[in-house]
Amino acid sequence: MAEIKCIGVLTSGGDAPGMNAAIRAVTRSAIYNGFTVKGIMRGYKGLVHNEIVEFKSQSVSNIIQMGGTILKTARCKEFATPEGRKMAYDNMMAAGIDALVVIGGDGSLTGAKIFAAEYDIPIVGLPGTIDNDLGGTDSTIGYDTALNTIMGAVDKLRDTASSHERLFFVEVMGHTAGYLSLNSAIATGSEAAIVPEMDTEVDQLAELINNGFRKSKNSAIVIVAENPKTGGAAGLAERVKKEFPDYDARVTILGHIQRGGSPTAIDRILASRMGAAAIEALSDGQRNVMIGIMNGRIVYVPFAKAIKHDKGIDKSRFELVKMLSI
Ligand code: F6P
Repeated sequence: MAEIKCIGVLTSGGDAPGMNAAIRAVTRSAIYNGFTVKGIMRGYKGLVHNEIVEFKSQSVSNIIQMGGTILKTARCKEFATPEGRKMAYDNMMAAGIDALVVIGGDGSLTGAKIFAAEYDIPIVGLPGTIDNDLGGTDSTIGYDTALNTIMGAVDKLRDTASSHERLFFVEVMGHTAGYLSLNSAIATGSEAAIVPEMDTEVDQLAELINNGFRKSKNSAIVIVAENPKTGGAAGLAERVKKEFPDYDARVTILGHIQRGGSPTAIDRILASRMGAAAIEALSDGQRNVMIGIMNGRIVYVPFAKAIKHDKGIDKSRFELVKMLSI
């Protein structure tokens, strides 16, 4: 196995709060352990187009508290082609980079898996996504901050919902996963959570709303995970409005606000631990793994398992939402 001297770091896919804390941790623990570091701009795009910069300890000063990513990010179509990856590899070699730390979600780790297999490059991934949709880890970097952002927004909506006696459908992100929806519903005391992992019939929802609206409450909030197949919150609201034309139903789509902002302490600590663990993993000869966290402990997750994302959704939490909103 060739000796690693220089480590390249990049962020790819959707930005997530805590990515900067991860970049900082990767850079500083690499330097501490005797490696040199290069920052790759705009994810894989920067590898393909040779946007590579020297990184020193000062390059990551004063960023732990910042949302977004100082390395910028992109979703790169060229890297999905063998020609694009060849350009990336040639640039990487010319820059003297021996190993990569890739911070991103499932698309980014899929790219890492293919690249590592094709060119036999040591790559370690960090789970950077608000969606929490990666296998082998209890949490991803950015997920806790996004949950808190949703919570703050829904708390505000609750004031209007209750003052105007309205029914609100609040759409949250999550890609194809319902973690943000389900857990923000618990955190905000919402009446229901709709997730892509489970079919929700209008009848079921009607029952929930009836319970809330007719029995003890005069307002209700339903958190709906984005879902192009069903039309998300707007699609659901349309269907429900047909059944209950008397309700004053409104739709709020939280959108990219969920990706922004200063990371929570939980995300900063997670990113710091995972960043340092990525360098330790590379030093120990680990390859093609994502750093995960399980029951508070750092674990190495093969890319294939991380991408497969088979951790499922905890069905008992739906019961919790229902029970606590009677
Ligand atoms: O993966 C993060 C995420 O915010 C998803 O929740 C969402 O589906 C997607 O990215 C949106 O991507 P874009 O910013 O490219 O529209």
